[in-house]
Amino acid sequence: MVEIVPSILSADFTRLGEQVRDVEAAGARRIQIDVMDGHFVPNITMGPMVVEAVRGCTSAILEAHLMITNPQEYIETFAQAGADVIIVHQEVSPHLHKTLKQIKAAGKQAGVAINPSTPVFMLQDMLPFCDLILIMTINPGFGGQLFIPETLPKIETLHRMLRQRDLKCDIEVDGGINAETIPQVVRAGANLLVAGSAVYNNKESVAQTMEKLRHAIPDNA
Ligand code: DX5
Repeated sequence: MVEIVPSILSADFTRLGEQVRDVEAAGARRIQIDVMDGHFVPNITMGPMVVEAVRGCTSAILEAHLMITNPQEYIETFAQAGADVIIVHQEVSPHLHKTLKQIKAAGKQAGVAINPSTPVFMLQDMLPFCDLILIMTINPGFGGQLFIPETLPKIETLHRMLRQRDLKCDIEVDGGINAETIPQVVRAGANLLVAGSAVYNNKESVAQTMEKLRHAIPDNA
């Protein structure tokens, strides 16, 4: 099933609880929390305290997208904070197999993210250990960027790799996802669509933006 996954990066942090409840009321079953350390990406955002706070506001599946160096040092912290899915970046995980096992041992779903410059083949040996692969469709660090169309073949390649090996793994995309780009990424094979500025930062209500994005999902998806 194809789902919109709101990212709270673009939410109004002066009323974060309300904004989380708004997207859940608008039908979101998963919410992504963008953790950034100012090292792996040129921005500093939020940490386990925000995951814990959001955990208290919603029963939605919480994804902690760790855009941080040494993510293996923080798995237990984010697991205890209430994340259901922990996503680490391949680029900062030289012992990725060990880190994925660590996430599973913490009782959480394991995800791996790759930046636009990282070939999807870098993940081919780790696919059996992943519940989710996140293909960044922008260079991580900030919301509101333009979608990078050259990432579309990566989605198609990953979809083909998973199907050929009969592996069950979600394909998630993140960055510049909106009503215009949703048909492209879904047709390429993505089923989890992270959207921040297309959900928040609008004159429309969250209910209206979520409906608009859901409406952009091709019927035969
Ligand atoms: C960037 C963040 C963003 C955010 C969604 O590192 O990960 O991709 O979640 O951003 P937009 O506003 O492009 O949907």
